[in-house]
Amino acid sequence: MQYFVKSSEPQKQKTDCAIIPWLETSKVPAGLKALDKACGNAIKDAARRGDLSSKVGASTLLIGGANSPCKRILVVGCGKPESFDRKTFTKVTGIAAGALARTGAKDAVSYLSQALKSGRKEQAARRLAMDTVAAVEQATYRFDALKSKQHRQKPIALKRFGIAVSQSSERNAVSATLPQARAIAEGARLARDLGNMPSNRCTPRYLASVARKIAAKSKKASARILNPDEIKRLGMGALLSVAAGAVEPARLIVIQYRGTSAKTKPTVLVGKGITFDTGGISIKPGQGMDEMKFDMCGAAGVLGAMQATIELGLKKNVVAIVPACVNMPDGNATNPGDIVTTMSGQTVEILNTDAEGRLILCDALTYARRFKPDTIIDVATLTGACVVALGPFVSGLMTEDDKLAAGLLEAGELAGDQAWRLPLMKEYGEGLASNFADFANVAGREGGASIAASFLSRFTKDLRWAHLDVAGTAWKSGKEKGATGRPVGLLVQYLLNA
Ligand code: BES
Ligand code: MN
Ligand code: ZN
Repeated sequence: MQYFVKSSEPQKQKTDCAIIPWLETSKVPAGLKALDKACGNAIKDAARRGDLSSKVGASTLLIGGANSPCKRILVVGCGKPESFDRKTFTKVTGIAAGALARTGAKDAVSYLSQALKSGRKEQAARRLAMDTVAAVEQATYRFDALKSKQHRQKPIALKRFGIAVSQSSERNAVSATLPQARAIAEGARLARDLGNMPSNRCTPRYLASVARKIAAKSKKASARILNPDEIKRLGMGALLSVAAGAVEPARLIVIQYRGTSAKTKPTVLVGKGITFDTGGISIKPGQGMDEMKFDMCGAAGVLGAMQATIELGLKKNVVAIVPACVNMPDGNATNPGDIVTTMSGQTVEILNTDAEGRLILCDALTYARRFKPDTIIDVATLTGACVVALGPFVSGLMTEDDKLAAGLLEAGELAGDQAWRLPLMKEYGEGLASNFADFANVAGREGGASIAASFLSRFTKDLRWAHLDVAGTAWKSGKEKGATGRPVGLLVQYLLNA
């Protein structure tokens, strides 16, 4: 989709479809009266006939008259003016884009921001652009390459989407934000495609090939893929133990992006890349196990954020590290009680082979030290406990660094990709005590998200580190099953701010 900003008078704007907000006040918005007039009072007449609904989620498609500047008018229900906030704006923008996608309209101009309270600041204009692009991309995303032709939906005609603003200051802020919003959207699209791709296609090797493609887009970026021999030489016993039962070997995928002087310490992003999680010998129940193809969504998020970073040419140094493998039961697989030596030298008793994410991450976090990072952020679909705690709305954020937490929370807020802080303190690690190794990979069930983070913290001593558990946010279950592209927005916004 192409996006553009429009600040000309609405009645002069030729378009396949004008998108108009309809609030409970049931009035044509003041700024759109001239447009309605130019359309032969199409909106006013429809309102009088009782054809328009102000319910959030409702939309009515009107036909513009013979001499009207717009071929269609999509009137979108926006609810009560006082409750029309950023989230409702994003929701109705998505509804409008979804409705438009079912028509033949090739371009559209959205006036939905007219329903927001006036007096917007530059910050609000930035959000307007971010939210519009995110909502339109969300509504028009399809993953049907693996359906045969007759099962595919008809292609979407909509190609150009305009954001109407009324002031030139807004126009500038929206224009400046659009490239960033687009890069985030493209990064999120990559993350969604990777997440949705089944494990017989999205393998560790496939993730490596995607990383190479991302790095090839810029001279400032390079990719390095470590094979099992190299991984072994580094002493990554934990990562190798998770891959032991699989036919396809583990890979350690590294993308290095140099956007500024080599002296500047990089931000390192680490993403969990389990391309399928059966649980291993501690095998999972069959119900819903297909969703464990999404267990590489941390990796997908990190790769999507890296793609956006490269696309935007950010003046920062950023490294992406993805430990990738498949967690399978097999004669060669790791058994509960097996003890491995991690790259850090610490030994771990693997009491549950289904707690594999922390095992591949701990070696990747140790590896990250060689880049002398300023900050490390790891992203992982790490625990079911995080889903129980927070549901599908916010990602779990765990860090001991309050400033880093504030930066990440703010970035999530700005990008409409929220996180919520969960505790991380010594007590959560107490249950990890082991009779046979330095510590175990699991403790009790309660507080599982923080226990997992506490395990990881034993590998990030003296580092500025945060952990994002995206088990609840990276994909949706049920009828809308599919990857969401989170937390690409949060990560890229963080890099833009930092
Ligand atoms: N990938 C799962 C976490 C997960 C489960 C994400 C369900 C989303 C939905 C992870 O590898 C896992 O299996 N974690 C275990 C840890 C436990 C054994 C301590 C879990 O959460 O049950
Ligand atoms: Mn698991
Ligand atoms: Zn897992």
